[in-house]
Amino acid sequence: MSDPSTTDPRPARKGPTFEPLPEWVGLSTRLVHGARRPDLNAGAVVPPIYQTSTYHYPAEFSEANGRGDVHLYTRGDNPTHEVAEELLRQSEGAEAAAVFASGMGAISGTLLTFLKAGDEVVVLDDLYGGTRRLFSDLLPGLGIRVRWVHTVRPDDPSVSVAGSPKIVFLETPSNPVLHVHDLEAWSSAADRAGALLVVDNTFATPVNQNPLTHGADLVVHSATKYLGGHSDLVAGAVVGPSELVNRVRVGTLNLGSTLDPFAAFLLARGMRTLSLRVARQNLNGERAVESLAAHPRVRRVDYPGRASAEEEAAARRQMRGRGGLLAVTVDGGSEGVRRFLHALRLVHVASSLGGVESLASSPSETSHRHLSADERSRLGIEPGTVRLALGIEEPDDLVRDLTEALDQLS
Ligand SMILES: Cc1ncc(COP(=O)(O)O)c(C=O)c1O
Repeated sequence: MSDPSTTDPRPARKGPTFEPLPEWVGLSTRLVHGARRPDLNAGAVVPPIYQTSTYHYPAEFSEANGRGDVHLYTRGDNPTHEVAEELLRQSEGAEAAAVFASGMGAISGTLLTFLKAGDEVVVLDDLYGGTRRLFSDLLPGLGIRVRWVHTVRPDDPSVSVAGSPKIVFLETPSNPVLHVHDLEAWSSAADRAGALLVVDNTFATPVNQNPLTHGADLVVHSATKYLGGHSDLVAGAVVGPSELVNRVRVGTLNLGSTLDPFAAFLLARGMRTLSLRVARQNLNGERAVESLAAHPRVRRVDYPGRASAEEEAAARRQMRGRGGLLAVTVDGGSEGVRRFLHALRLVHVASSLGGVESLASSPSETSHRHLSADERSRLGIEPGTVRLALGIEEPDDLVRDLTEALDQLS
């Protein structure tokens, strides 16, 4: 997997040509109009789903003569992938994007492309539980050294990244207690060490944050979440400069984490309303934080920028909105959580996030259940901590549902 060629696996294909948009259009407009391709679509306003595994190719075809417009096989290229990739590319202000069968497919594919036995990777330890297990269980078995940065009291990034790691990986805001990591500081430290900075931008979305403009080399997403936006698909993405994204494409072609075309269609459909949804989720997040922080049964509220003055300053520099994710630690530990979850009438009790409907989950029982109680506590996850992923409902309705459920704890 290491040191793959930097050529696109689809080298001489002419590649998709989407109708260019004027330079001056903003993100909402780009998401609506950014993947027009009437040449391919018989003029359809909505690009069709290419639900095919393979394609006719001309009998005289030879890769050596260039592929022109020829597609060969969906594990590698599919026009429906290209529509979703174009919207992702534009939303992150990047040269290229590649979609995968899941967020974990995108993250594992990126790491396996750039790391080989003997290499070192630096990772900030407040992470989604699945990503954490990839670093703790899979990579060491392949001979890759993992250096954990404990983010509760982090060293200066340049100290944490000293040596010659190949990759620095972080989430900001992080899962589940929403720490904000200073992208420019981590990017300078990674640059000095000659490492790539890979940032998971799932929580912020490209509406609230574009890590590439703050020094990240690659952005990864669980597109299952806000990008898809309707809790009805599983997908992932890698976004960044063409050279790096193409290396990931080549590196992962035979790992087989290919997105199904129907899921790619749903992803592109979801992305067209991303700005509207995230704007409402930002509002719902702010309203919920105000009300929950004042509730007598709430011990702590985590929300981007609340942890410290440094995190607030970093959030101001790198985020345009703070999002609809928050964590509350309620009275009564795990029994308090059970009673709170049981009393919710609108908010579903489910893991995951980013859909139109609000969800509540206990990280101790779901995303971070594989950690010991001590490890969870060190990360700020208490038995009474609940992660809230707010949807697009009316702010007053959500505040009422959450407040009434907390009142039951009295
Ligand atoms: C921040 C973050 N990154 C990555 C993932 C993994 O994504 P997926 O479930 O699409 O594989 C998740 C899933 O919850 C996540 O929350």
